[in-house]
Amino acid sequence: KKAEAWSARFSEPVSDLVKRYTASVDFDKRLAAFDIEGSLAHADMLQAAGILSQADLDAIRGGMAAILAEIQAGRFEWSLDLEDVHLNIERRLTELVGDAGKRLHTGRSRNDQVATDIRLWLRAEIDTLLDLLRQLRHALAGIALEHAATILPGFTHLQVAQPVTFGHHLLAYAEMFGRDAERLADCRRRVNRLPLGAAALAGTTYPIDRERVARTLGFDGVCRNSLDAVSDRDFAIEFCAAAALIMTHVSRLSEELVLWMSPRVGFIDLADRFCTGSSIMPQKKNPDVPELARGKTGRVNGHLVALLTLMKGQPLAYNKDNQEDKEGLFDTADTVRDTLRIFVDLAGGIEVQPDAMRAAALQGFSTATDLADYLVKRGVPFRDAHEAVAAAVRACVERGCDLADLSVDELRAFHASVGDDVHAVLTLEGSVAARAHVGGTAPARVREEAQRVLGET
Ligand code: ARG
Repeated sequence: KKAEAWSARFSEPVSDLVKRYTASVDFDKRLAAFDIEGSLAHADMLQAAGILSQADLDAIRGGMAAILAEIQAGRFEWSLDLEDVHLNIERRLTELVGDAGKRLHTGRSRNDQVATDIRLWLRAEIDTLLDLLRQLRHALAGIALEHAATILPGFTHLQVAQPVTFGHHLLAYAEMFGRDAERLADCRRRVNRLPLGAAALAGTTYPIDRERVARTLGFDGVCRNSLDAVSDRDFAIEFCAAAALIMTHVSRLSEELVLWMSPRVGFIDLADRFCTGSSIMPQKKNPDVPELARGKTGRVNGHLVALLTLMKGQPLAYNKDNQEDKEGLFDTADTVRDTLRIFVDLAGGIEVQPDAMRAAALQGFSTATDLADYLVKRGVPFRDAHEAVAAAVRACVERGCDLADLSVDELRAFHASVGDDVHAVLTLEGSVAARAHVGGTAPARVREEAQRVLGET
């Protein structure tokens, strides 16, 4: 049993229940490497400012290297009595190097220390996610290039609307993930500020050099108000909001994969390595991975709301409430990272079934808009064209056939402006090829957009 750092002030130790309730070491020990990095930058600055001797700095460096090795080897003894990662490491340092270890905390508080640790950790997580988003966009663009001319029905209200290319459909997700990356990169700018120097809340009386610490740790600058530096977690909330949007996009894609893979739709098959079977129904092959991703979106959304709620009632400056920021934040990063990793791989496991897509696009009068546009190009006002085609569709529904099954004369019965060339616009290929503007579904445009995404680094 180790005495608390503040035991001299107290007449009795906390109860075991309170100790377990207030301790965070079980989860914040994952910040250890960043805690050490921050401490070394702080010690280096203290020495440069003449607050710490070179001998003490050398001792701290040696001790921290030994501690990092102990942690990495799983030999470090974490103690609940020492509450959190910061006090555990500081105590061990003092065990190893004596008074130099006791001098490390000069001009610093756990309040600015923990805020620094989280920012260092989150910055690394953001960089990992940015790389994964890039990989996922490249994977989607690769399939889009391959299926730039593969046609499936586009839906609105889950009713057949107009034909689109599968490549175009996938590139819609590449756009979403592109914006997600922009959001993360923007959030990173605000994460990457140094709280150290704020100490507990009011700053410190030592002649510290915060810019030096910021440079050492790769921060873009320092937090400019000590009260704000230790108390706000808006940077973490922003990250969680960006993460919730990433998961929302993954979840929409997942929903489509599940739908497409249903035997009733059959647009894709998913490689066996992403599916599981049933313990009772021998025929089953279930899309568990997309379903789980859809489900995990709920917990990421939940963490966002938890953090917002955690923050909203806190007076300045630091309050212990903030210790509750970590588990949700860690879980958010873990969940998004694992999900994106799997989806980068899963994209390669999508087995496209072009025949089923095409057959579906041929049902539901997906080229009805093209027929109306055809009449408009022959001088018919759009509303009249719309009405004429609607009547033709209704007749087809009654007869159980498609618009393309009607002869020129039969079509002309619905509007006198129908010409002999009408069937060209009723084909799926003609429909998609005609939408070649920026943002359109034409194969040529899809190839161009896919190449653009693939060219991004
Ligand atoms: N474990 C604490 C946290 O996560 C570190 C800061 C504690 N500071 C304090 N004054 N109790 O926020």
